[in-house]
Amino acid sequence: MDHAFWHERWRDGRIAFHEGQPNALLSRHAGELPAKSRVLVPLCGKAADLAYLAALGHEVVGVELVESAVRGFFAERGLTPVESTVGALRRFEADGVVLLAGDFFAVTTADVGRIDAFYDRAAIIALPPDLRPAYVRHLRGLLAPAAVGVVITLQYDQTRMDGPPFAVGEAELRAHFAGAQVELLHERVAGGRAAEVGAIERCWRVRG
Ligand SMILES: C[S@@+](CC[C@H](N)C(=O)[O-])C[C@H]1O[C@@H](n2cnc3c(N)ncnc32)[C@H](O)[C@@H]1O
Repeated sequence: MDHAFWHERWRDGRIAFHEGQPNALLSRHAGELPAKSRVLVPLCGKAADLAYLAALGHEVVGVELVESAVRGFFAERGLTPVESTVGALRRFEADGVVLLAGDFFAVTTADVGRIDAFYDRAAIIALPPDLRPAYVRHLRGLLAPAAVGVVITLQYDQTRMDGPPFAVGEAELRAHFAGAQVELLHERVAGGRAAEVGAIERCWRVRG
C-alpha cells in the first residue's frame, strides 16, 4: 500500500471506508478515553469521528496523507481552517480539530504535542503486515506514558480476501502493544465487504 494507492483512492472517490457519521463502536466506547484528552487519530481520512471527539471536549489531532481529504473534512462542515506548515506536514485547524496532512511516519512529537489518548479506526487494518510493526512503534513513540487508546480491528481468514482492510488478530495486536494493557471492549459481525468473508470486528482498549 504505497502512497499512490491512497492518493488514487481519494482522487477516484473509492472511499467506501468513509462512514460519514460517527462510528458506532466509537460512540459506544468513547467514554474509555480520559475526559478532555488530546487525542491522536492516525490515518484519519475525513472521518466524522474527528468532529465527534472534538464535540465531546477532546483536543483532536488527526494525521492524513491526502490533503484533499483534510480539506474535505473542513469544507463539508463549512469551516475555513487556519493553515500553516509544521515540519514536513501542512497543518489545518478549526473548531478544536487539528489535521496534519502528510505521511504519518514523518510526524514527530514536536508536531503533535503531548498526546494522552488515541483512536485507531481503519488505520492499523489499512496497512499491510510489513508496515504494521513500524506503524505501531511510531504511534507508541508519539504517546505520553499511560496513554489510552480505542482500537478497532477486523479478524477474518486473510486467504479469502485481499486487504485493505487487512485482518489483524488478537495475538498480533497484543504483540504490537506488548507491555500495554489490551482489553476487549466489544465484538460484532462486521459489515461491508468484510461481511462476505464472515469477519468479526473487535473494539479494544489499549492502555500504557
Ligand atoms: C481505510 S482509510 C480510514 C480513514 C479513517 N480512519 C476512517 O475511519 O474513515 C485509511 C486512511 O489512511 C490514509 N493513509 C494511508 N497511509 C498513510 C500514511 N502513511 N500517513 C497518513 N495517512 C495515511 C489514507 O489516505 C486513508 O485515508
